[in-house]
Amino acid sequence: MLITIPDILTTEEVTQARAVLDAAEWVDGKVTAGYQAQAVKENLQLPEGHPAAVKLDEMVLAALARSPQFMSASLPLKVFPPMFNRYTGGGHFGTHVDTAIRALVSTGQRIRTDVSATLFLTQPDQYDGGELIVEDTYGLHNVKLPAGYMVLYPATSLHRVTPVTRGARVSSFFWIQSMIRTDGDRTLLYDLDTAIQRLAKETPGSPIGVQLTGVYHNLLRRWAEM
Ligand code: NI
Repeated sequence: MLITIPDILTTEEVTQARAVLDAAEWVDGKVTAGYQAQAVKENLQLPEGHPAAVKLDEMVLAALARSPQFMSASLPLKVFPPMFNRYTGGGHFGTHVDTAIRALVSTGQRIRTDVSATLFLTQPDQYDGGELIVEDTYGLHNVKLPAGYMVLYPATSLHRVTPVTRGARVSSFFWIQSMIRTDGDRTLLYDLDTAIQRLAKETPGSPIGVQLTGVYHNLLRRWAEM
């Protein structure tokens, strides 16, 4: 399942984040790439634990916590601290799959990457190229979103970022270890939750809604890993 979530960050938060990021010193993005990804990665990143990144992490994590759609779609157990990257001057990231297990530099804690997230921090008309292309069995998904919007996609997918040929593309990217390991099961729960929310709106107080909510929670109870 690939979903886009609008307005994760407010316009003010995007402006604030960009002010911090535009003043930061960036390093070669190869530092966090695995062996295969290193060969195809040409971008800049803030190092993990960089003071600017730590400051913005709180903002992004608070924004995620207030998004019911993020919660429903990813069913997070752990969120890897958001990282930040910048593509400019032809910068790109060739086709790769994200590392399955990542360890935090600070604590060594391991996180399994089930869901990949990109939160866009540049308006699409500010740069050319820089599209995130995600492959799945239905074909290619081409993603370029307004600043403050986020895309979630299965970390199992092959994906790439096309060269940025004008301007700069600044984003936050991170991973989620979900309570539900496989994309198919997560998608099923998301669809069920979405249907329950619609029913609650269209037929408030319906006993069918109560019954379906029970099914949702009982599936979650059966499948969740903590
Ligand atoms: Ni990636």
